[in-house]
Amino acid sequence: MRILRTIAEVRAAVQGAKREGQTVGLVPTMGAFHEGHLSLMREARASNDLVVVSLFVNPTQFAPNEDLSTYPRNEHEDARQAEAEGVDILFAPAPEEIYPDGFATNIHVAGLTDVLDGASRGAHHFDGVATVVTKLFGIVRPDVAYFGQKDAQQVLVVRRVVSDLDLDVRIVACPIVREPDGLAMSSRNVYLDPAARQQATALNRALDSAQALHDGGERDADSIRSAALEVLAEAGIRPEYLELRDAETLEPVADTTRATLIAVAAHVGAARLIDNHVLKAS
Ligand code: PAJ
Repeated sequence: MRILRTIAEVRAAVQGAKREGQTVGLVPTMGAFHEGHLSLMREARASNDLVVVSLFVNPTQFAPNEDLSTYPRNEHEDARQAEAEGVDILFAPAPEEIYPDGFATNIHVAGLTDVLDGASRGAHHFDGVATVVTKLFGIVRPDVAYFGQKDAQQVLVVRRVVSDLDLDVRIVACPIVREPDGLAMSSRNVYLDPAARQQATALNRALDSAQALHDGGERDADSIRSAALEVLAEAGIRPEYLELRDAETLEPVADTTRATLIAVAAHVGAARLIDNHVLKAS
């Protein structure tokens, strides 16, 4: 595996591979790898000749009050794990390589980013994601890019950018990888002390209870939401949001007859956690 720092080096490596007719898969990440990240790398490895993983803690998607400075960073260990997954190139640029002096472009996806994490974290968050992902697509020019369903709204935003800007890349969304007790894996889980780690399991339990009601025939969105909130309340969690929305458009829904995203964000101990399920259309 090669660790590359510059856009020029990545371009040269990818162009060489493409000249030989190789397909290119990209996994964008911010590092601190766990099984969720590794599952995306495996998926990319299984279907592409050249696998590029980007490791860049993107400053523009963090608000000033968020955890940019303390976000877990361990490039050495990340590189070891990526290599073990058969990744060909780890692109780990410095911030100045991605945002040189004079950088002035911002990609804003209207509508989709007004709700859920866009409303909670502010518009800058998905602007930062959309802009850096578009840059990564421009740098690597992948045939396929892999994202986790853990960040369901991020997947929708990226798909919108690709469609609106006619980018020639296929987006693959991969299932959420969970700990044995159901907690969705996240780089931020390291912030949880043992009590908070236990409390955090309520997020997936709340989503499971919504899923169980839906599977049992309940279709009323308010009833399903109330049941999920109840599970959180029992664990002492007041979520930042817990909402049911159309899984494609993120419009509010009154019932769950179409594919419905139930998404939750909550501060648990020192971590801000998110999770979601898609209640399948009936
Ligand atoms: P990061 O949080 O490092 O996540 C990188 C990728 O791993 C994302 O597509 C995310 O959805 C996926 N992922 C995280 N936890 C997962 C889990 N438990 N199961 C499955 N997939 C999981 O998301 C970002 O970085 C950034 O916003 C980025 C897209 C790199 C742009 O900066």
